[in-house]
Amino acid sequence: MTTPQAKSNLPDEDDLFRLLRQLDHAPEASQRATAEALGISLGRLNTYLRAAAEAGLVNISDRKGADRRQRFAYALTLRGATEKTRLADRFLARKFAEYDALHAELTGSTSGLVPLKHRTELMQNNLAPIPELYVSYESAQKLKVEAADLTSHDLTPRQICDLELLMNGGFNPLKGFLSEEDYNGVVENMRLADGTLWPMPITLDVSEKFADTVEIGQDIALRDQEGVILATMTVTDKWEPNKSREAEKVFGADDDAHPAVNYLHNQAGKIYLGGPVTGIQQPVHYDFRGRRDTPNELRAYFRKLGWRKVVAFQTRNPLHRAHQELTFRAAREAQANLLIHPVVGMTKPGDVDHFTRVRCYEAVLDKYPAATTTMSLLNLAMRMAGPREAVWHGLIRANHGCTHFIVGRDHAGPGKNSAGEDFYGPYDAQDLFREYQSEIGCEMVDFKHMVWVQERAQYEAIDEIEDKDNITILNISGTELRRRLQEGLEIPEWFSFPEVVRELRRTKPPRSQQGFTVFFTGFSGSGKSTIANALMVKLMEMGGRPVTLLDGDIVRKNLSSELGFSKEHRDLNIRRIGYVASEITKNGGIAICAPIAPYATTRRAVREEIEQFGAFIEVHVATSIEECERRDRKGLYKLAREGKIKEFTGISDPYDVPVNPELSVETENVDVDNCAHQVILKLESLGLIAGQ
Ligand code: PPS
Repeated sequence: MTTPQAKSNLPDEDDLFRLLRQLDHAPEASQRATAEALGISLGRLNTYLRAAAEAGLVNISDRKGADRRQRFAYALTLRGATEKTRLADRFLARKFAEYDALHAELTGSTSGLVPLKHRTELMQNNLAPIPELYVSYESAQKLKVEAADLTSHDLTPRQICDLELLMNGGFNPLKGFLSEEDYNGVVENMRLADGTLWPMPITLDVSEKFADTVEIGQDIALRDQEGVILATMTVTDKWEPNKSREAEKVFGADDDAHPAVNYLHNQAGKIYLGGPVTGIQQPVHYDFRGRRDTPNELRAYFRKLGWRKVVAFQTRNPLHRAHQELTFRAAREAQANLLIHPVVGMTKPGDVDHFTRVRCYEAVLDKYPAATTTMSLLNLAMRMAGPREAVWHGLIRANHGCTHFIVGRDHAGPGKNSAGEDFYGPYDAQDLFREYQSEIGCEMVDFKHMVWVQERAQYEAIDEIEDKDNITILNISGTELRRRLQEGLEIPEWFSFPEVVRELRRTKPPRSQQGFTVFFTGFSGSGKSTIANALMVKLMEMGGRPVTLLDGDIVRKNLSSELGFSKEHRDLNIRRIGYVASEITKNGGIAICAPIAPYATTRRAVREEIEQFGAFIEVHVATSIEECERRDRKGLYKLAREGKIKEFTGISDPYDVPVNPELSVETENVDVDNCAHQVILKLESLGLIAGQ
């Protein structure tokens, strides 16, 4: 960012600070009085004022009718107030140094009082405070009032996570959302425009509609989802990114099976805004407040305890015995203290929710020596970018005062691509980290896969075992663990801790007791509603869980009565259904949905929303359009053919045939009872319904 001083006729930093302070102090004083207070001529004051107004630091208003000598009033703008705070810090630091020098001259020794900012220079690198983007409390109060008049952007959950780490220094050296030049550098070669290593694009994506309301140079307010202003941003850049290129370079493939690529194409806005951020307040968290620490809070904690070496363990999963072994070994190897640093912001869709995980971590923490281990929660929005993510995680941990970082097998792996293969090799992340280690500022402690050796009753790294043929190696994969939890099967003591298993079982009862959603899709008149009704009755007969039917027509009457059939309206309708179904699923009920839901991307979005809480069973009612038209139960096809109903699915509007539905039912020559029974059999095979 260009500092205001770099522009035009602005005075040097000290004079600018005095000018801003004077105008803030006496905004309605006459020019003569202001010039006198500053000890400069009227002519010079005028030059300064013009330059300050041009630089957007001061607003000058003409108070017509007021006394001639007091005709103008001066108010600091948002940028002016921020600049004043920044200059005040520098001014004080210099004054302090001058005082210290004078003290030494008069007394023969320095004052012994070292200002905070200078004291940090004496500290070890990882323990000294790092810069934050927050302004002082007083400035924040003022900015908040002024920012109320600015154009506002409502941040997405991911942007809130990013903003928190930008403001608290977790993403140091970033000073805001990336500019276009920085973004290009990061995407192409993991470097900001000035050459600094930074592997992950931290971008403010917005809709085209919002971008059209914003001009370069404008300040905007960034609000959380309740409307609280968290920060302001001076927009320096606005551009349409090449998202496919971003996907290829950052995530290794332009494949929607990668959660971050899917997010990029299907959730992120089309336009990116970049610019420096001024932090007003941190996002509010009501959960586990005592366990959340900013980088500076952790650094202060390490300083206080004299922890010169700290190894961080990143995780998005509950801790089991293998993890404990791995962290013990890492701490031993690095002769360091241990920071368990789980991510609680956004992780991979389908992960165990962070509430459950934190309760699990707390249960396991007792098993670590308290004198050398601590835990802190990190509000990071992960991207699952494997190698690049590992480098990013290392930089973030270095900012949090850690000297070492554990990188295990398949670090931040996104799973399989659409061809069923892994996106990254299991040790790609370690290789990339090694390459950039000296720049990251954090040393890697790398680990191979840990397995249980039954004969020796201990965990060992797979690559260190020499007698593989003579021993029994045991391991439970994440998928296998989920299966055992879902089916209520035994989880052995060698694998996890009873407290952790108890906690996991509490939140994830066996599948046959969990909520789920059956989502019928198909043409109008295909038989969705009839089958859905039959299914509802059959499930109610079985009992055990409440059942709700969200039929297309019922929803359009009760939830979406104002909507038509444009793409936008259909999407909104389906998302509403998805939202209600996800709530029902979360709360252990059964939701049966039966809209046309013609668009694959919207169905996928709904699936993702629901799968956080339970199973999503897509049932394609595959009645052909010809058969639906032949039946024409409601007479709508006739009207559609006559052009009296526009945008009619299958006639004048598209329908994306489901590619991989859990079930596809044919209705021609099959009775309704049989179709509903096919669904019941599917639910049974998935373990969603079971005998008592
Ligand atoms: S969507 O696309 O999923 O939002 O549609 P949905 O909410 O299921 O509503 C479909 C029912 O609305 C009637 N109808 C139309 N359908 C498709 N296209 C157009 N233009 C249209 N206009 C009205 C139709 O009766 C659908 O009922 P179903 O239950 O599918 O037969």
